[in-house]
Amino acid sequence: MAQSKYTTHLGMVDILPDEVRKWQALENLIRIEAEKFNFEEIRTPIMEQTELIVRGLGQLTDIVSKEIFAFSRGEDNYVLRPELTAPVVRSYVENHLDQRGGSQKLFYIGPMFRAERPQKGRQRQFHQFGVEVLGSDDAVADVEVISFMIHIYQKLGITNTTLKLNSVGDPESREKYKAVLKSHLKPNFDKLSEISQKRFEKNPLRILDSKEEEDRPFIETAPLITEYLNEESRTHYSKVKEYLTDLGIQFEEDPYLVRGMDYYTKTAFELISPDLGAQDALAGGGRYDLLVEEIGGQPTPAVGFAAGMERLIIACEELGIPLGTEKSVDVYIVTLGDAARKWGVSKLPELRMAGLSATMDYMGRSMKAQMKDANRENASFTIIVGDNELNEEKFTLRNMKASEESSLPFDEILANLEYLYVD
Ligand code: HAM
Repeated sequence: MAQSKYTTHLGMVDILPDEVRKWQALENLIRIEAEKFNFEEIRTPIMEQTELIVRGLGQLTDIVSKEIFAFSRGEDNYVLRPELTAPVVRSYVENHLDQRGGSQKLFYIGPMFRAERPQKGRQRQFHQFGVEVLGSDDAVADVEVISFMIHIYQKLGITNTTLKLNSVGDPESREKYKAVLKSHLKPNFDKLSEISQKRFEKNPLRILDSKEEEDRPFIETAPLITEYLNEESRTHYSKVKEYLTDLGIQFEEDPYLVRGMDYYTKTAFELISPDLGAQDALAGGGRYDLLVEEIGGQPTPAVGFAAGMERLIIACEELGIPLGTEKSVDVYIVTLGDAARKWGVSKLPELRMAGLSATMDYMGRSMKAQMKDANRENASFTIIVGDNELNEEKFTLRNMKASEESSLPFDEILANLEYLYVD
C-alpha cells in the first residue's frame, strides 16, 4: 500500500466510520442519561484566551507549564482548550447564566488538547464528556455529579472501578495545611525533585501528587490534609461521604489525591479502572468554589467532573462490551441496464422520504457485483430491477436475511417496507 504523504499530528487520530458508530452510541447514551439528571448541554469554542486557562488552571500546573497548544495572531493569544471547566465558568460569567435562576447544571461533550507524550489512553487531541454544576455549595451537588459519572459507566456495564475521594479543604484549611506541609518538607528541600522545589512556595499541595521517586519518602511521611480541615470543610466532606454511602456508591479515601489543577477546593475525586493499564483514570473532578470569582464573576460555589472518552471506549473493548451497531442499510437497489439505473436513481428519494435508508451502486458494476456489495453493506432488502421489471412495472423485492423474493409494484414494496421499518 502506498504511504500517505501527509499524516495526522503526533497524538491526534482520525476516528474512522466503523469507530464513529461507537462514538455516536456513546454520545447518544450520555445525552439521554444527562437529560434524566436534568443537565443541559453547553457548547463553547475550541479556542479560548490563553490568559483564561493560565489564570483558571494555575501557572505551575503541568497543563499550563508544558502542555498547552498556544499561538498568537495579532494582539490576541489563543489556546486550544485543554479542559472545559475554566471555559464553562468563563461562559457562565460572560453570559450571566446565574440570571437564569437556580443552580446551572451543565454538561458537555467535545475534543480537548494537551501536548502530552502519547501512549495508550493518552492523546494530544482527546475527548471528554463532563458536568459542571454552578451555584450550589450543597453536598447534594457533589454527590449528584459523582452519581452521574458512575451512572454512565454502570449503564455501559463497566462496574469494576474504584472511586477515590478526598477533601482538599477550603482556603482557610488549605492555608493551615500548606504551612504544616511546608515545615514538614523544608528540612529536606534540597532532596526534593526539581519540580517539587518549584512548587514548594506557590503550590506545595501539588507535591503530594508528585510521581518523582526522590519525593516519595517525604510524601509518605507527610501530615494528611484531612487532619487539618476546618469545621466547614469537615462537615461538607462528611456529608458527601454520608450521601454516597446512602446511595450505595463505594469509595476509597485517598488523602494524597490533589488533582492536576489549582482550582479545586473541598471535594476531589477520581474514578480509576484496573482495565486501563498505566493511564488508569477514567474520570476526575471536584469542587472549585473560588474559580468563578477568580475569573471575574460573583462568588459562586461549583462542582464538576470530566471523563476521558477514549479511555471509556478502551475499557469497553477490554471488557468485551459492544458499542454501537453494525453498518447497515434498509434497501439496496440493484439495477441492470441504463433505464433501470435511471429508475433506481429516481426511487431513492421516495424511499428516503418514507423514512427508510436506501442506496445503490455508484460504480457501474455488474448485477453480481451489486448483490455482493449489498451484502457487504449489510442491506436488509434489495430491489432488483431490469428491463423486464420496468415493462411489467413489478420489481423483485428480496429479503436478504430470509433469502425470500416477491414480485410487486413499487407502491406495494414501499408499503411493505414502511410497515416493517418506520414507526
Ligand atoms: P482531568 O483529570 O485533567 O480533569 O481530565 C479528566 C479525564 O480526562 C481524565 O481522567 C482522563 O480520563 C481524560 N484525559 C485527560 N487527559 C487526557 C489525554 N491526554 N488523553 C486522553 N484522555 C485524557 C479535568 O479536565 C477537569 N476539567 C475535570 C473537572 C470538571 N473538574 C471539575 N469539573
